[in-house]
Amino acid sequence: MKFFVDTADTDEIKSLAEAGLIDGVTTNPSLIAKSGRNMSDVIAEICDLTTGHVSAEVVATDFETMVSEGRKLQKIASNVAVKLPLTMDGLKACRTLSDAGTAVNVTLCFSANQALLAAKAGAAYISPFIGRLDDMNIDGMEVIEEIRIIYDNYAFETEILAASIRNANHVKLSALAGADVATVPPNVLRGLANHPLTDKGLAAFLADAEKAGIKI
Ligand code: E4P
Repeated sequence: MKFFVDTADTDEIKSLAEAGLIDGVTTNPSLIAKSGRNMSDVIAEICDLTTGHVSAEVVATDFETMVSEGRKLQKIASNVAVKLPLTMDGLKACRTLSDAGTAVNVTLCFSANQALLAAKAGAAYISPFIGRLDDMNIDGMEVIEEIRIIYDNYAFETEILAASIRNANHVKLSALAGADVATVPPNVLRGLANHPLTDKGLAAFLADAEKAGIKI
């Protein structure tokens, strides 16, 4: 399973990349706005921090402008994946950009049928939003499970990118459901390493080592 980090904070990305924990990055207009930086500058900087795909999202909603924004974003770096919303215009733009060799991440997916359309449109990634479904009392994980079955039934190559992940359990359940990628906020990613028994065990080992005077 690949891990993408879901942020436009370049310090966080740098630190997680140095730890060898990330295979790519996802951003969206809200995360870019939060960074307070110019979008092209921040995407270019992120693309230098990872060799994996960096999703950069268009802000237009009509086909022609989405394609033209997608082409501009793609020119920033060879590892940009253009992020398009799951609308009819977005799907049409997905087909055009994918046919031209651009990796497209189709975002704002909330159903298996939407994911089926994205695969038909040649998307490199489909992003089902688990957390936002859970917020509405709909089981987001069930959507991931359904997409996995449908994509496997027809050998679609579109990768399932579990998005809107809010906690460690979302990561585990996405992995169990066979998502190809999870895009995870930095704090959740770091939190995956934590276990109280690890802390307790380490404290005991270090105390014993000190008592015995072990030096390496
Ligand atoms: C990533 O591609 C999505 O934009 C992101 O995971 C959305 O997460 P949120 O629902 O927590 O905003």
